Amino acid sequence: MFNIVIADDYDMVSSEAFKIMRSTVARDNPVLGLATGSSPVGLYKKMIADHNSNGTSYKNVVTFNLDEYIGIPRSHEQSYYTFMHENLFDNLDIPEASIHIPHGDAADMEAECGRYEEELKKVTIDLQILGIGTDGHIGFNEPGTPFESETHIMELEEQTRKDNARFFEDDIDEVPTHAITMGLASIMRAAKIIVIATGANKANAVYGMIKGPKSTDCPASILQDHPDVTVILDQEAAARIK
Ligand code: GLP
Repeated sequence: MFNIVIADDYDMVSSEAFKIMRSTVARDNPVLGLATGSSPVGLYKKMIADHNSNGTSYKNVVTFNLDEYIGIPRSHEQSYYTFMHENLFDNLDIPEASIHIPHGDAADMEAECGRYEEELKKVTIDLQILGIGTDGHIGFNEPGTPFESETHIMELEEQTRKDNARFFEDDIDEVPTHAITMGLASIMRAAKIIVIATGANKANAVYGMIKGPKSTDCPASILQDHPDVTVILDQEAAARIK
């Protein structure tokens, strides 16, 4: 079931997401599912500001990230490992041992998928943050991914690599071709989900997620079956559902 919040601008979108995050982090041993990309950065800034000014502690927080590129080391400036440390973890008091990010540079990637899914199954994610790709992907679950998928390796769509080329000096050839991602079934086990989407280029994907047929053509449409999803949009991303 979708609770839809339409805010005026990105800062208000981030504030709405932060309100939900703050109440989750206030619990005893919260487990967060985290995303990369531009969409959650405003939320992460608010978490850092709150930690700095109000002393909100992340000592008891455990995190699981959705996905990671395959074929670049963790030390690469565009790895999701680096992204998460720069944009969030390095600025909080979260213990490194509580941070889980799939390894995209494991010698045996199939084994890494199994290992990550096993770790995920030991917990329940209290709050999962999601962005959405312009093709309706969540995590890196591209169109066609089975709804019952668990952590797996995904070949990235050309559109996704084009969208992400901005992080690789606009050179699509530098964008990895594959990623490891939590599957759609892994994501659906979260108790609560927030989807953040802003900008006109997300309007079609947002429509497909909320109003479109439930189909693997739009992976995010699986969320129609989840009991607790808050979708936080700006006016542009909400254009087709209003
Ligand atoms: C990326 C990530 C997703 C993210 C999406 C949207 O490829 N793998 O987790 O939600 O695409 O990214 P952005 O928020 O930058 O638009």
